[in-house]
Amino acid sequence: MGCNIAIDGPAGAGKSTIAKRVAKELSFIYVDTGAMYRAVALYLLKKGIDGNDSRAIADNCQMAEVSIRYENGEQIVILNGENVNPYLRTEEVGNMASKSSANPAVRAHLLNLQRELAARNDVVMDGRDIGTTVLPDAQVKIYLTASVEARAKRRYDEYLAKGEKADLEEIKKDIEIRDHQDMTREISPLRQADDAVLVDSSLMNIDEVVAAILAIYKEKVK
Ligand code: DC
Repeated sequence: MGCNIAIDGPAGAGKSTIAKRVAKELSFIYVDTGAMYRAVALYLLKKGIDGNDSRAIADNCQMAEVSIRYENGEQIVILNGENVNPYLRTEEVGNMASKSSANPAVRAHLLNLQRELAARNDVVMDGRDIGTTVLPDAQVKIYLTASVEARAKRRYDEYLAKGEKADLEEIKKDIEIRDHQDMTREISPLRQADDAVLVDSSLMNIDEVVAAILAIYKEKVK
C-alpha cells in the first residue's frame, strides 16, 4: 500500500485546493473522488435519467466506465473513452452527483477504482467517505470543514472574480441542502472518522491550512 492521506469534508471547505497543494508538497498524486462521482452524474444526465429514479441510476451507472490519468500533475477523468474534465464543474452536474452518489450501486461502481489507486500510489485523496469507508487504514485522516457562512462567502467571491453574478443567500441555501444530502444519506454519509483530525478553516487562509496538514502528516508518518 502507498502512503495514504484522506481528506474529507463538506462541499466548499476547500478540499480540492488544499489536497492538490499538499500532494504537490509531498510529491504524492492527488485523487479527486468528487470528480469521479461527477463523471457518473454527467453520464446519467446525458441519458436523461431522473435524479430521483434510483432503479434507473443503479442500472445505468454500470455503463459509465470511469478511469483517470494524469497530465502535468492534473487529474483527467475519462468517461467511456472521453476526457470529460471541462464538463464536470457545473451546478447541474454537482446537484445530480449529490443525488446519484447516494445510490449504493454508484458507490460500489467507483470504490475499486479508488482503492486500487491508493494501493499502487502515494495519494492525497479527497471526498466524503475516504477516511471512513474507502481507506479506513489511511495513515493520515483529515476532516476539513468551515462554517456555512465562510464557505458561502468563498464561493460568492469566486463567482465575482470570474465576473459572474451571484446571490450570497442563494449560495448559502444550496450549501445547506448539499450538506444535508451528503450527511444524512444511508450509505457512506459524510462524517468525521473517529481517528481523523479536525481542521476548521473558517478563519484560516490556504497557506495556513496546507501548513497545518503537513504538520499533522509529519507527526503521524515520520
Ligand atoms: O466534492 P464534489 O462537490 O466534487 O462532490 C460532488 C458530489 O459527489 C457531492 O455532492 C458528494 C459526492 N461525493 C461522495 O459522495 N463521495 C465522495 N467520496 C466524493 C464526492
